[in-house]
Amino acid sequence: MSDLYAVFGNPIAHSKSPAIHAAFAAQTRQDLVYEARLAPLEGFAQAVAEFVAAGGRGANVTVPFKEEAFRLATRLSDRAARAGAVNTLLFADAEIVGDNTDGAGLVRDITINLGCALAGKRILLLGAGGASRGVIAPLLAEQPAALAIANRTAVKAETLAAQFADIAPVEGGDFGRYAGRNFDVVINATSASLSGQGLPLPAGLFASGALAYDMMYGKGETPFLQLAREQGAGRCADGLGMLVEQAAEAFFVWRGVRPVTGRVLADLRAKLAA
Ligand code: ATR
Repeated sequence: MSDLYAVFGNPIAHSKSPAIHAAFAAQTRQDLVYEARLAPLEGFAQAVAEFVAAGGRGANVTVPFKEEAFRLATRLSDRAARAGAVNTLLFADAEIVGDNTDGAGLVRDITINLGCALAGKRILLLGAGGASRGVIAPLLAEQPAALAIANRTAVKAETLAAQFADIAPVEGGDFGRYAGRNFDVVINATSASLSGQGLPLPAGLFASGALAYDMMYGKGETPFLQLAREQGAGRCADGLGMLVEQAAEAFFVWRGVRPVTGRVLADLRAKLAA
């Protein structure tokens, strides 16, 4: 029988993860099945327990269950502990091991797929919620010249920044704090575009040739990338590559094999544009 994996979320119907992992499995000749599972908002732990009882070997976790998965895990990887959230579960020896591959996925997409080294760069991260928290330590591990966080609610950015001070100095504040300064890489980790709202970016935020990166993606240009382009960003990228790379990292955690992502990402991009 094939090994069983799944992604849990709510909603989950439009998840691209089953197609991504099916492509990885075919490419690496791994015998596995990967399904999308809708967990009730109040029933995540039970859904996971049932999946484990049915022989599930591992799972991905998406909105809104990443913090609950963090609490459910009986053991955490260092990067999941730092992120305060879990997007990858591994079921082995009666343990629920929680990991987080989101930050690794972002860094890999920027540094390898986009060919933009982060070492020595000035990075501005927009947002101070879960999406932002999950990527801070992996970004710092690239040894940027500076990492700053801008958030609508300044105190949340300040608090988040302080939690990583043991790794490197991180600055936090509201958007206005960064007026008159510029950055080499600006990453949108807010959920503003979900509500159709724009971000109050101060003018002149993008250094010459700067990369604007949106963790969100969709058909066509995201609102943040449109704004970034209008404000002079040199290069724009959405989060589809991060999605594929966090999946590849999860696949590696489960199977010990790293899939090649280029073709899978290109196919997904073509489908999104169609
Ligand atoms: P996630 O886990 O996706 O990060 P979250 O924890 O709810 O979700 O965080 C959402 C982030 O998007 C927050 O940084 C939020 O700013 P606040 O902390 O001020 O709420 C940000 N955000 C959401 N809508 C926004 C908007 N319209 N303008 C600016 N920031 C917004």
